[in-house]
Amino acid sequence: MLKDNEKVSNKTAYLILDGTTYELPVMVGSEKEHAIDIRNLRKETGHITYDPGYGNTGSCASAITYVNGEQGALHYRGYPIEEIAQNGSFIETAWLLIFGRLPNYEERQRFRDLLTDNELLHEDLKHHFEGFPSNGHPMAILSAVVNAMGCYDPELLEIQTRQEFALAAAKVISKVRTIAAWAYRKSQGLPFMYPDPERSYCQNFLHMMFSEPYRLYDPAPEEVRALSLFFTLHADHEQNCSCSTVRMVQSTQANLFASVSAGICALWGRLHGGANSAVIDMLEEIRSGQEDIKGFLEKVKRKETRLMGFGHRVYKSFDPRARILQKAAHDLLKAKGIKDDLLDIAMELSEEAQSDEYFTSRSLYPNVDFYSGIILRALNIPVNMYPVMFAIGRMPGWIAHWYEAYGAGLEKIHRPRQIYVGETRRSYTKMGDRKDG
Ligand code: ACO
Repeated sequence: MLKDNEKVSNKTAYLILDGTTYELPVMVGSEKEHAIDIRNLRKETGHITYDPGYGNTGSCASAITYVNGEQGALHYRGYPIEEIAQNGSFIETAWLLIFGRLPNYEERQRFRDLLTDNELLHEDLKHHFEGFPSNGHPMAILSAVVNAMGCYDPELLEIQTRQEFALAAAKVISKVRTIAAWAYRKSQGLPFMYPDPERSYCQNFLHMMFSEPYRLYDPAPEEVRALSLFFTLHADHEQNCSCSTVRMVQSTQANLFASVSAGICALWGRLHGGANSAVIDMLEEIRSGQEDIKGFLEKVKRKETRLMGFGHRVYKSFDPRARILQKAAHDLLKAKGIKDDLLDIAMELSEEAQSDEYFTSRSLYPNVDFYSGIILRALNIPVNMYPVMFAIGRMPGWIAHWYEAYGAGLEKIHRPRQIYVGETRRSYTKMGDRKDG
């Protein structure tokens, strides 16, 4: 049974198994991507497909983001990322991703007002921060407190209407910024700064991070623009690990807060949202002289380590976000009149790798994380906050996917199969009869 957003192509795939031919329908997407529909495969053949890491598996049909890894193209709701980066703001992008089109003036204003109205945390929620050790990782604090948010809005655990969804979405997008900044303040033993309703989304975040009760922090317009761009470029990237996690948790009919909290946990790892901080560690190691660039790349080629911020499951050419961030990093450093030798090392490392057969033959190019840390350093964001910054940016995407899956209504619970390779059936051995080892 096809759903509204699924289209069958005029092609058919044939599978011959033990002499029997099975016909498999072929689906086609709006950008002409094709997929063999195997939904009835097990029922008809008794076989499942085997695809560890899901590199060949389409888990859903989605109308939010399009990535073409061969061409290095990324579109949010049909708009190329380059045009969004040049013309849009993070808040406008969030609305676009979540509601499917660019907002008009009133819609954007209403959304901004809704974010401002929901930027404060409940005072009781504030006390949660006291329970964490001061060296607690901000990603752990972020996922815990985002999940706990649901306790303060129990009526939003069972969303019924679009208005309720819009309110829940605004609460998460607005408060995640307050929670993130307070996680940092807690780690520094600094007093919490309350959000300032007169400030824009990005200004407000930098204010809560860096203002003191006796001295307010006023970021330069270039800093605010760079942060908005950073969040915009991270806002969605279709079915990556954290987004798939959000959709998987949603498929159990879990609420929005629990689902995006799970997304934060999935994002934390070094191969995903933790890569941006790992890039800085790598560049600092090279700067410290422990390893020169050629020596480091040799180590990578011997597979003793990975070139962090390089490679991508989908992109087999330059990640368009990396291109935009590379320029933005140069622009921000220039505007602030600072020089960061890590950017020079990154450029040299990238050039060396791109002229090396190991990397070119595997289509390994800089990804979104390669240059993003340089921007965050220029904004004085501490390295352990980098994955948190990614999470703030990715929140609209997770919310859009949660809503899309929720709206689809009849989507099945996500439940992959496996090929069991353990012991075959055996009888229980009593303690006295067991042998060592
Ligand atoms: N450095 C060195 N070699 C690499 C790298 C890398 N960064 N990435 C992939 N390779 C090699 C693999 O060793 C493998 O080589 P082989 O064919 O000789 O075995 C080949 O390229 C294919 O790699 P896979 O691991 O199969 O690629 P996969 O699609 O599973 O992994 C991933 C993608 C996780 C992003 C990988 O490229 C990686 O680890 N990159 C570094 C971490 C990173 O930057 N992560 C951020 C990704 S973007 C994001 O999440 C926002």
